[in-house]
Amino acid sequence: MGNVILIGFMGCGKTTVGLRLSYRLRKPVTDTDKEIEREEKRSIADIFASDGEEYFRRKETECLRKLIKSVRNHIVSVGGGLPMREVNRELLHELGQVFYLRAKAETIYERLQGDTTRPLLQCSDPQEKIRVLMEQRDQHYKDAADVIIQVDGKSFEQILNEIEALHHNRTIGRTN
Ligand code: S3P
Repeated sequence: MGNVILIGFMGCGKTTVGLRLSYRLRKPVTDTDKEIEREEKRSIADIFASDGEEYFRRKETECLRKLIKSVRNHIVSVGGGLPMREVNRELLHELGQVFYLRAKAETIYERLQGDTTRPLLQCSDPQEKIRVLMEQRDQHYKDAADVIIQVDGKSFEQILNEIEALHHNRTIGRTN
């Protein structure tokens, strides 16, 4: 299908990498969060507040199924929690080559300090929440990934170069 899929924790850079990669590879970019917000005509925060996380998770699976039918040669960045469902990990593989942008909890905390758009981090101790969630999620991201890119301390340019070099090459790899 030629799609490049970007997965990883909130704040790992999926959206920015997606946009820049789109420009560089001349492929359109799609973001599952934005697709869901467009369809629902409300923000992720509003969806969580009115209908709860479970409703949002169902929308994520529906969104993936639609993308499998509709997108070819796209960059697709997906919400940080999407690869937690087994069915979604299978759908991601169907959709394209999956890159896990892997970041340390400290990197994520630095980037997301003060963020109000992520409902899961609106709690008394976001730093601890990031640490716990990351511990729960890392293995699922790895299971979903064809390629793992460690992003801490790297420029966007470096990250894009690595993705570009590994795109089409479907061997499982890890970079440092
Ligand atoms: C979530 C990540 C968010 C968004 C929602 C839930 C998560 O996307 O889908 O707030 O569970 O990690 P980003 O990873 O783009 O921030």
